[in-house]
This record gives sequence, C-alpha cells and structure tokens, in this order.
Amino acid sequence: MSILQKHAVLEKNVTLLAIFAFLVVTIGGLVQIVPLFYLENTIEDVEGMRPYTPLELAGREVYLREGCYVCHSQMIRPMRDEVERYGHYSLAVESKYDHPFQWGSKRTGPDLARVGGRYSDEWHVDHLRNPQSVVPESVMPKYGFLEAKLIEGTYIGDLMSTNRMVGVPYSDEMIEAAQADFLAQADPDSDYDGLLERYGENVNVRNFDGAPGVSEADALIAYLQMLGTLVDFSTFTPDASR
Ligand code: HEC
Repeated sequence: MSILQKHAVLEKNVTLLAIFAFLVVTIGGLVQIVPLFYLENTIEDVEGMRPYTPLELAGREVYLREGCYVCHSQMIRPMRDEVERYGHYSLAVESKYDHPFQWGSKRTGPDLARVGGRYSDEWHVDHLRNPQSVVPESVMPKYGFLEAKLIEGTYIGDLMSTNRMVGVPYSDEMIEAAQADFLAQADPDSDYDGLLERYGENVNVRNFDGAPGVSEADALIAYLQMLGTLVDFSTFTPDASR
C-alpha cells in the first residue's frame, strides 16, 4: 500500500482522522509550549520602561472606550517595510504594563506603537477634531467631543490599584498621589516635581489640548505622545543569548 493509499484510510474514517489529528496537534503544542517552562524569563527587561502616569492611563482608557484599536495596531513587526515606516520593531517589554495589550492585527490606519513625539500636540488636536483637515484622504472619524469632556481623575487611583493586582508595579505612594499627579501633568504651571520623581524626568508635562481644564483630549494626547518613546533605541542592544 502506498503512503497515499494509507492516508486514504484516514480520510475515510472520521474517528481515526480525529484521533490522529489530535495526536498531531498535541505534539505540535508540546513542542511550542514546553520550552517556555524552562526559560527563566521570556521578556527581556530593558532600561526606560515605566508604568503609565495617571493621565496617560486615563488617556489609554479613552483609547479603549473609543475603539481606536479597531483601526490601529500597536505592534511593529520585525519586517523591513514596517521598520522603515514605523521605526524599531516592538519589544515584548514595551507592552508589559498593558492590560489589555493593543497589538492588534487590523490596520485601517497606521500602527501607533511609536507615534509618540512624531507630531505636535496641536496636530493631534486638529487631527482628532477633524482628521480630513490634516490628511484629506483620511477615513478616521471625528473625536472633537473629547475636548469638551472635562475629567478630574477621581477614579484613576482605583484603576491603578486594579492594574497593580495584575502586576503593574504602582507603589502606595503613586496610588495616593494619583489624582494630584493626574492634574499636574496637564498643567505646566503646577508643582509637578513629585510626578517627575515618581515616573521619571522624561514625562511630558504640558497643556496638551491648549484649553483650560483637563479634558479627555488632554489625557488621550498625553498617552499618544508617549507611545513607543520609553526605550532609547540609540543605546539599546538586543540580548544576543536569546
Ligand atoms: C475607522 C477607522 C479609524 C478609527 C476608529 C480611528 N482611526 Fe486613527 N486613523 C485612521 C486612518 C485611516 C488614519 C490615516 C489617515 C490619517 O492620518 O487620518 C489614522 C491616523 C491616525 C493617527 C496618525 C498616525 C500617523 O502615524 O500618521 C493617529 C495618531 C490616530 N489615527 C489616532 C487615533 C485615535 C486616538 C483613535 C481613537 C480615538 C483613532 N485613531 C480611531 C483610522 C481610524
């Protein structure tokens, strides 16, 4: 019996086919999964990573609520066309504080993993108000209403505690100062020393939407402006042992 004829036996007997398919999938699964248990760490730690500031975290919530992920991914794959367009491919560590992660597979719009610092705050305000005003062929919806919605960060400490439960290293001090830090980051005239002490010198402190009060647009732009900026790729070298 040739190998094709032997295979015909499998194809004609559904029970046998199911058993063999199960065997193949089991072996394939073990080969993929078992080695992971023997690695000490699957995520290479990289200098510069920090948890989101309260304002950025609030902006991330707006991003999730508005479904920006429906059209935007946040993962640059290590292929040449992507790296040339978006910058250094995404590292696992860069989404280690993301709950839930925003990798995505649908790109109606461009990948946003490194959009931080690429445009000015004013550009983002214009673009959110009316994307077609800056990119005429854009199919992105308008989000101008975010500017009108003022927020006070009342619950941001609770959200940080929840993030801590799933492993984000927010300290008690960070959670206690959550609302103060939230307000300080959007107001360059405030006393934001504590914020920088807790989250690092590279935190952007600005009036992101240019209007008084902290709006959802402030939070969202604060989040967009830090995406992909934490790791310094001029000094980063991948760990060659992996
Ligand atoms: C219906 C799909 C769609 C949705 C939903 C959407 N976008 Fe977009 N977005 C696009 C498209 C298409 C572009 C490219 C054209 C442009 O720049 O407007 C884009 C571009 C962008 C850019 C510029 C990226 C770059 O590198 O030039 C940013 C930033 C952005 N979107 C943020 C957002 C945010 C934040 C949200 C949620 C509030 C959102 N988008 C929701 C489709 C979408």
